[in-house]
Amino acid sequence: MTPGTELAVAVDALRAGELVAFPTETVYGLGADAANPEAVRRLFAVKGRPADHPVIVHVARAGQLDELGRAVPDIAHRLAEAFWPGALTIVVARNPARVADEVTGGRATVGLRVPDHPLARQLLDAFGGGVAAPSANRFGRVSPTTAQHVLADLGDDVRLVLDGGPCRVGVESTIVDVTGAQPAILRVGGVSRAEIADVVGRPVELQTRGEVAAPGTQPSHYAPRVTVEVVDAADIGARAGELTATGLRGGLLALAGVVPAFPDGLVVLDAPRDVDEFAHVLYDRFRAADARGLDVLLVVNPPDSDGLGAAVADRVWRASH
Ligand code: TXA
Ligand code: MG
Repeated sequence: MTPGTELAVAVDALRAGELVAFPTETVYGLGADAANPEAVRRLFAVKGRPADHPVIVHVARAGQLDELGRAVPDIAHRLAEAFWPGALTIVVARNPARVADEVTGGRATVGLRVPDHPLARQLLDAFGGGVAAPSANRFGRVSPTTAQHVLADLGDDVRLVLDGGPCRVGVESTIVDVTGAQPAILRVGGVSRAEIADVVGRPVELQTRGEVAAPGTQPSHYAPRVTVEVVDAADIGARAGELTATGLRGGLLALAGVVPAFPDGLVVLDAPRDVDEFAHVLYDRFRAADARGLDVLLVVNPPDSDGLGAAVADRVWRASH
């Protein structure tokens, strides 16, 4: 199919209540018409996701904040203006006429995002309405950052995967909730806390890591089969020795400059050169660790800055629990 035809087929599929996987700049999404309860139920079934676990709705334009949301506060418009299209999801009160109950497990809020990927934008533009889309992986597993990952995980359960190449960012969007007295970050991701604080005009509270926060952002998400362990660079040698002594196959994921000259029997996964690349390849390396049959993957987090470094550390932490 030519790309134009494929897009038309994808739009028709969404209108017919079917599921379409599509690329975004963060990870691939598995999309369904957010206004069609039947389609959204199918989405949850394929994903294997609990019904009370809300899904992000993707739209083409910031103007749709006021169509799919309700009583949207000014700060949401300012955040949208600053970061959309981009890796920020904004949680606002939900307009039930445009977003089915099933999308958010009946809750009164909805997470909205305008993704920054040409294919996603064309799809959303042509479709017109909101597209409910979680990451296009089975529940609890590693998010897909290529069309091949989607196919490997979902197989025949998805009718169409739009292939937009590898996702540029590689980890999910930052989620900010503006329904409370003060904006709060529910998940760290592609947009940094400092950037958000700049727009808000004050520091922004972080509600992540297993606290109530975004339902389903609890640990045991983003998890490969391999046991993930966070290590300090200084402890790699000692830990490698222990793994060898117990007969376990160990691997290492660390920035290029951190990989020791003699990794003591560890399988060294292709090392990213900087924090951006670490985020970009993280999920692919998790998959590689599984494909190579490793028992334990040691990860040295990139410098835990506020941006993608924090998002990588967060996903590694979740994968390790
Ligand atoms: O980058 C991303 O955000 C990707 C791409 C596809 O857009 N999507 C994604 O979706 O990561 P998913 O379903 O894997 O994670 C969505 C997260 C969940 O942790 C969910 O709890 C939270 O967003 N969320 C969605 N709607 C919410 C709401 N109304 N209130 C609080 N959290 C919400
Ligand atoms: Mg996900």
